[in-house]
Amino acid sequence: MRLLITGGAGFIGSNLLHYWCEKHPDDRIVCMDKLTYAGHLESIRSLIDRGSIEFVKGDICLREDVGRAMRGADAVIHLAAESHVDRSIDKPDEFIKTNVFGTFTLLDEARRSNIKRFHHVSTDEVFGSLSLESRKKFNEQTRYDPRSPYAASKAASDHLVRSYGETYGINVTVSNCGNNFGPFQHPEKLIPRFITLLLSGRKVPLYGDGLNVRDWIYVLDHCSAIDTIVNRGKSGGTYMVSGRNELSNIELTRKILSEMGFSEDRIDYIRDRPGHDRRYALSDSKLRKELGWKPSKRLEEALRTTIGWYVENEWWWKPLGDNYSFSVGRETSSNRDALRSGL
Ligand SMILES: NC(=O)c1ccc[n+]([C@@H]2O[C@H](COP(=O)([O-])OP(=O)(O)OC[C@H]3O[C@@H](n4cnc5c(N)ncnc54)[C@H](O)[C@@H]3O)[C@@H](O)[C@H]2O)c1
Repeated sequence: MRLLITGGAGFIGSNLLHYWCEKHPDDRIVCMDKLTYAGHLESIRSLIDRGSIEFVKGDICLREDVGRAMRGADAVIHLAAESHVDRSIDKPDEFIKTNVFGTFTLLDEARRSNIKRFHHVSTDEVFGSLSLESRKKFNEQTRYDPRSPYAASKAASDHLVRSYGETYGINVTVSNCGNNFGPFQHPEKLIPRFITLLLSGRKVPLYGDGLNVRDWIYVLDHCSAIDTIVNRGKSGGTYMVSGRNELSNIELTRKILSEMGFSEDRIDYIRDRPGHDRRYALSDSKLRKELGWKPSKRLEEALRTTIGWYVENEWWWKPLGDNYSFSVGRETSSNRDALRSGL
């Protein structure tokens, strides 16, 4: 198969490229990425150097770039996006442009090419927030209820993908996933932030009551879910992807501290604001039943692997510095000021 992967220099994209080259060594892969602040060529340098992938620097909003990268492709896996909620609140423009117009440009080019599968990687945030008391989970029938410009732009792109499936008969699939963690994740996100702070001898900031719940998945399990859907998902199908690891921020923090051999006096409790997204949770029954997918790593094992990776790969994260806004599990607007003031 000849594959175009967009956003392959980012966190999930780079993991997907490593995964795919190992799992499907005969596939020919083109990675297209604009290399924004979130794209790191170093994450995929080894694959480029050994000729396992072709890298094309390009912008998904530019038809010329897209046409060049898509030439000869059988399938597209679309991950390129602006992905940081806090940034979407400060400057929504880029999010609308990349996530909505960029997805449109890719789809429109795909309908002119002979693309046999267009897979769109999306997020649980398009569904809004659940209460801590409820036992509900998001599923394929859940109504869209985005609460940040990031989530709204991803929701719009999901709708565009489905509309191109219906209107132009493109073979599309969509996956909505929870919070990923693993190697090559920018330290603006919770898990790498906490690990790198602790490795630098600092405390970790925990906001509010720490009870906000997120649905965590190891990034390589997300990659294997994408592989399963791209190769076996039904045309027009949507699939929820979950690691079934619902954890509050305080529980997660305790696990990281204990794994790294620190006590709870390393926690800095920071005052929070009320009203932020309390809980995200996904039901992945359809993906498990219909396609037989399941994650391979338990949370504790995946956390250990991730911590080990940051210990061994300071060369990757140290140059990124720490001059960036920080997201506790992709929080939304209501507590972002509290998050910032805490650092
Ligand atoms: N990280 C998560 O927990 C998570 C969860 C669910 C879904 N997702 C989705 O998965 C995808 C990847 O997320 P991530 O965390 O790897 O994001 P990321 O921010 O780490 O990577 C995004 C990549 O897209 C590239 N990019 C941005 N604008 C571009 C443009 N105009 N043209 C070409 N490339 C461009 C960036 O350079 C970067 O390499 C996104 O679509 C995101 O919405 C992420």
